[in-house]
Amino acid sequence: MTSATSFLFVAIHLACIRAGNSSESFVKLECKEEYHGVYGQQSLLECIVKAVQSVTILTVTWKRVGGDAILLEYHKHENASALGYKFAMPSWNNKNMNVSLLLTNTKMADKGVYECMVNTDRGDTTATISLSVTAKYKTPTMSSIPETNIKENTDVTIFCNSTGGYQTGLIWWFDQFGSNWTRSAELVAKETEDGLFSLSSKFTVLKATSSYTNYTCKVLNVNGAEEGMASFVIQFAPRDLGSKADHLDIVSTTKWLAPVVVIGSLIIGLLAALLLFKRRSAQRARRQSTFPLMSGHQTDTRHDQDVEAEGLNSDRTSIPVFSN
Ligand SMILES: *[C@@H]1O[C@H](CO)[C@@H](O)[C@H](O)[C@H]1NC(C)=O
Ligand SMILES: *[C@@H]1O[C@H](CO)[C@@H](O)[C@H](O)[C@H]1NC(C)=O
Ligand SMILES: *[C@@H]1O[C@H](CO)[C@@H](O)[C@H](O)[C@H]1NC(C)=O
Ligand SMILES: *[C@@H]1O[C@H](CO)[C@@H](O)[C@H](O)[C@H]1NC(C)=O
Repeated sequence: MTSATSFLFVAIHLACIRAGNSSESFVKLECKEEYHGVYGQQSLLECIVKAVQSVTILTVTWKRVGGDAILLEYHKHENASALGYKFAMPSWNNKNMNVSLLLTNTKMADKGVYECMVNTDRGDTTATISLSVTAKYKTPTMSSIPETNIKENTDVTIFCNSTGGYQTGLIWWFDQFGSNWTRSAELVAKETEDGLFSLSSKFTVLKATSSYTNYTCKVLNVNGAEEGMASFVIQFAPRDLGSKADHLDIVSTTKWLAPVVVIGSLIIGLLAALLLFKRRSAQRARRQSTFPLMSGHQTDTRHDQDVEAEGLNSDRTSIPVFSN
C-alpha cells in the first residue's frame, strides 16, 4: 500500500517535472558565456536557437542589458540595426537558427552584457552574453634630445612612446648589456579618446659615451605581459670620421705607397751612407789640419752646434775653472 502510493506520487511528480521542462525548453537560446573582443576588430556574440522540432522565428531583438536602444531587430520580416551591428550570418533568414550578433568595429565602450530575445511560433526565449574588450599597446617609437651629432660625455634624453593600450601599462629600459635602467626613467600615462592609453617614458643618459649607444625599451600591459619593444642607438657626432677617412686613404694608398716607400728608403739610405762617408773624410781632413789649434776640444763624436756652444762657454768660464 504505502510503496504503491509513494510510487504513484513519485511517478506523478516526475511527469509534472518533465511536462514543465518540455514546455519551458521547447525553444531554447544557447549563447556563449563570454566573448573576448579586441579594440578595432570584429566581435561575434554567438547565440543559437535550439528547438526540438523545426520552428519559424518571428522576432529577434538584440539590446544591451540596462540599455533601451535596439541594436539589431528582426520583426515582421524586416531587419533593422544600428550602425556597426548586424546578423553574423551573411544572409540571415527566419529559418536560420544562428541569430549571432556581429559588432563590426569593437570599441572600449562596447564592453558589457548583451541580451538576445527570440520569439518563435513555438515559444519565446531569452539569453545574455558578455563582451570584454582589450586593446594592445603598439610597437613603441623612440626618439632622443638632442637627435644627432651628440658629443661624448653630454646628457642625452631618450623617449619611448606607445599608444593604443588598455589601462596603464609600464615601460622598462635596458642598455645593450642588459642592465635594467627603469628606475632612472619617468613614465607618463594618459587616457586618450575611447578609453585607450598612451605611454611616454623619458630616460636621461647622463654623460653618454659611445661605448653605451644602444638602449631598448619594453612596453608591458597592466597584467605585466610584454606587448612591444624597440631599440634606439644614440647618434654620436662622427668624432672618428677623420681617422676613418685616413684609414680608407691608407687602404687605398698602400698599393702604390709600398714601392715608393721601398725605393724612397733605398735612396735615403744611399744618401745617408754617402753623407756619412763624406763627413768622415771631411772630419779626418779637418782633424789633421786643425789639430794643433783646437787641442782643448774633443770634436770626434759631438755635434757641431754642441761643440760651438761649449767652445763659447769655455771661452768665458771654463778657463778660470780650469785654472783653479
Ligand atoms: C553562427 O554564424 C557565425 C557567422 O557566420 C559563425 O561564425 C558561427 O560559427 C555560427 N555558429 C554556429 C554554432 O554555427
Ligand atoms: C614621445 O613623447 C615625448 C613627450 O610627449 C615627445 O617629446 C617625443 O617627441 C615623442 N617621441 C616620439 C618618437 O614620438
Ligand atoms: C627592471 O626594473 C624595474 C624597476 O626597478 C622592475 O620593476 C623590473 O622587474 C625590472 N625588470 C627586469 C626584467 O629585471
Ligand atoms: C640593440 O640592442 C637590441 C637588444 O639587445 C638588439 O636587438 C638590436 O639589434 C641592437 N641594435 C643595434 C643597432 O645594435
